[in-house]
Amino acid sequence: MLNWRTECANKIVSVEEAISHVKSGDKIVFAHACGEAQCLTNELVRQADRLENVEIMHMVAMGQSPYCQPGMEKHFRHNALFVGGSTRKAVEEGRADYTPCFFHEAPKLFKEGLLKVDVVFLQLSEPDENGNCSFGISVDYTQPAAEAATLKIAQINKNMPYTYGNGINIKDIDYIVEKDEPLIELQPPHIGDVEKQIGGYVASLIHDGDTLQLGIGAIPDAVLSFLGEKKDLGIHSEMFSDGVVDLANKGVITNKKKTIDQGKFVSCFLMGTKKLYDFVNNNPDVLMKPVDYTNDPFVVAQIDNIISINSAMQVDLMGQVNAEMIGSRQFSGVGGQVDFVRGASRAKGGKAIIAMPSTTGKTKKISKIVALLDEGAAVTTSRNDVDYVVTEYGIAALKGKTLRQRAEALIKIAHPDFRAELIEEFEKRFHCKFEG
Ligand code: COA
Repeated sequence: MLNWRTECANKIVSVEEAISHVKSGDKIVFAHACGEAQCLTNELVRQADRLENVEIMHMVAMGQSPYCQPGMEKHFRHNALFVGGSTRKAVEEGRADYTPCFFHEAPKLFKEGLLKVDVVFLQLSEPDENGNCSFGISVDYTQPAAEAATLKIAQINKNMPYTYGNGINIKDIDYIVEKDEPLIELQPPHIGDVEKQIGGYVASLIHDGDTLQLGIGAIPDAVLSFLGEKKDLGIHSEMFSDGVVDLANKGVITNKKKTIDQGKFVSCFLMGTKKLYDFVNNNPDVLMKPVDYTNDPFVVAQIDNIISINSAMQVDLMGQVNAEMIGSRQFSGVGGQVDFVRGASRAKGGKAIIAMPSTTGKTKKISKIVALLDEGAAVTTSRNDVDYVVTEYGIAALKGKTLRQRAEALIKIAHPDFRAELIEEFEKRFHCKFEG
């Protein structure tokens, strides 16, 4: 039994001291999403005046991102691998950057030095009897970044769940800050009528024994609410949220039929409430692994009947999916969408679903099924990769369909207010009548 407080006594420091080891010009990786070590972030920003040109890299930010506030660019420059609510304005205004990358490739960028990591800010569980700390709810790129970093600073927080499949020994940390604070939580989204209709259609594509990957937001939660009568579902997902806990407790998700990691919920990060964090804590049925395992399309492809469910901004009439930009504005990122679309398409019995409301817009209704993607927008999932597209008007199965058949299928699930203009474009493009 390791008495870590004695063995590591010289490394246990105040947060002020830990952050004093960060130097101007350092490149820092933050633990991901709800796993962010908030006390380290806040202290770094408090010490801003002594720092210049510090690069801060992470994917989605669920905290306040004070280093992205106007004026902070003199000290910090954020490099986003996925843009989130609290970092979006800085990226838009040119005070922060965005680096496109598939989620499963982020560890390689860190390990091979394409993105240099001088410092990593971690938030870890308390060590077990051997001194092993768990990365808890943020393993994804965080564990690989820790392996690549020269300097490792960790907040030890008793509220961080101990999850299996990952870890670092306390002796490998350079500076340890003990601080118990609540983890960042993501409250369950509001599920409206449109999401319920979409959820129903997506659920009709899911069968007993299937394994699910779920993206973030109201649609995945709506899908889960339709699965109460299914049997032996599995989870292999880059992330999951509270909705999965309810289905696990009901015995709907058993992971029994998975063709790899049988019996296990597999994920690389988690976002939810304390209910989710309590569920995964010391739970031997939950495996939290780095993203170059969970999202590797070649791993995903080994899971028979895996169904990936992700969302999008726009889908054009060829089936090209823009899931990350509003025109030339970077709104989010590719995340794991293409990792799972490719893996699921390759898997025996797999299906890749893009599910989205047919329209968006608060003041003016905008169709999300469009003749052409907006000028400046990126193609996230290509027309060669796309499989199913679902809206509240139905399901368009695009694989194996010609461009003409795809356009027809997509127009049928567009919002009725926009069908006439899409049909006009269809008839011009394909020189034939639309057979509705
Ligand atoms: N044109 C203009 N604006 C659009 C739009 C379009 N076609 N589609 C969406 N928007 C706007 C919405 O109005 C909304 O604006 P607001 O923030 O001012 O309310 C905003 O974009 C977000 O849209 P919403 O439909 O609420 O998004 P969501 O929370 O359901 O997320 C994605 C949808 C596509 C942004 C999100 O799924 C994503 O980032 N996906 C890419 C990565 C991915 O799939 N990863 C794998 C799972 S983590």
